[in-house]
Amino acid sequence: MSVTMPEVAATRGQHAHAVADPLDGAAVRADFPVLNQPPVEGRPPLVFLDSAASSQKPAVVIDALTDYYTRYNANIHRGVYELSEIATERYEAARKTVARFINARSARECIFVRNTTEAINLVAQSWGRANLRPGDLIVGTVMEHHSNLVPWQLVAAATGARLAHVRMTADGRLDLDHFDVLMTEEPKLVALAHVSNSLGTVHPVKELIARAHAVGATTLIDGAQSVPHLQTDVRDLDCDFLAFSGHKMCGPMGASVLYGKKALLDAMPPFLGGGSMIRKVELDGSTWADVPAKFEAGTPAVGDAIALAVAVGYLDGLGMERVWAHEREVVDYALERLREVEDVMLFGPRTAEARSGVVSFAVGDIHPHDVAAILDEGNVAVRAGHHCTQPLMRALGVVATTRASFYVYNTLEDVDRLVDGLHRVNRVLGGKRSVAPSAARADEPCRAQWEQADGGAKVPAEVPDVG
Ligand SMILES: Cc1ncc(COP(=O)(O)O)c(C=O)c1O
Repeated sequence: MSVTMPEVAATRGQHAHAVADPLDGAAVRADFPVLNQPPVEGRPPLVFLDSAASSQKPAVVIDALTDYYTRYNANIHRGVYELSEIATERYEAARKTVARFINARSARECIFVRNTTEAINLVAQSWGRANLRPGDLIVGTVMEHHSNLVPWQLVAAATGARLAHVRMTADGRLDLDHFDVLMTEEPKLVALAHVSNSLGTVHPVKELIARAHAVGATTLIDGAQSVPHLQTDVRDLDCDFLAFSGHKMCGPMGASVLYGKKALLDAMPPFLGGGSMIRKVELDGSTWADVPAKFEAGTPAVGDAIALAVAVGYLDGLGMERVWAHEREVVDYALERLREVEDVMLFGPRTAEARSGVVSFAVGDIHPHDVAAILDEGNVAVRAGHHCTQPLMRALGVVATTRASFYVYNTLEDVDRLVDGLHRVNRVLGGKRSVAPSAARADEPCRAQWEQADGGAKVPAEVPDVG
């Protein structure tokens, strides 16, 4: 299954395998050293269901990092010696690989940043401060990750802009009527995720971008949970900005991407000042380099960017259609099997089509941390908490959920292990409903809003407006 960087161009748009030829999760798993470690004595093999937080890395990516530090580690863009030239060439080649992956018009439209959070802060502080005036409206949604909420709160406080948030429906989708109502106020910016990290809901962003553009808004898409999972074409989406994290798509932590339309990036002031981003520096003022350098002050994560391109090559080699189809199959199976577990309450859309590889749930009133801890005893790794979406948790009427997130290396057997673990959670804690008072009590009044639905899953009858 392993693919090296040069194969990226060859497989782009004409993936080596048709969707009809499904991904073999077990074979893919063999590419990931962490997943193939011998388990500690007495523990079953690891089932990793926390890829929405950060994915595991295939051996080709780890090797690319080792190769960089072993053979050509040097600072870039400055040296006139061979190592620096090789590192510079590979760093810029990585930018082209990433640009091709999202179908950007030019590699100059891709800025390397540390993570999605930094990418969004860059836009907020640079584009936002330059373009937002008192009273201007920024539209987000109640489902956003804090990384796509807090930067806008900061820039709103600095500029006097206003914030409004699209509500969500009872089954965890965006309330599109409310979106349209907010568009009548002619916002300056619409910033929303393509896929919810807490519920897995896939939003119709192409349509929403068109509606936002129709009223003159600039658009930012948080692609942290979409770019790793579904084929992303920025020209087709027509988004103005797209932010995504390399570490959630098989790349190392440290290199991620902000895509921006070139005309917008050209017109924006720098975000961080320092080395590499200048054209000329005088003691009393400076001029800026062209994009992307204007937004890459200081020494970048050279090895991480190069390894990110290898990760992109790896995903492209698997074929993004197959990645998506594989997740559909695993999530579909998970939604079905989770309904067998007594007292499981599923959050978000009921069908796999409207979801990415994320499934959030509760087991009765048992605190999600206790659920996760018991799953961990069976070496099943899930996340429990608010997932950096506190307003969304409030809208759901809970303080936390347990979240299983699936990726290319997960299999139907992993779902079985999750379900076995949840049966055990019920056996161990099922009778003791107040083990974790913080969550159980805090959301008790809201429980009345939940109704038993088919197969034991419950949906909120009414979602409070927190927008
Ligand atoms: C939708 C979404 N946006 C933003 C982020 C932040 O990503 P990072 O931690 O890489 O900055 C995450 C991380 O989970 C996310 O899921």
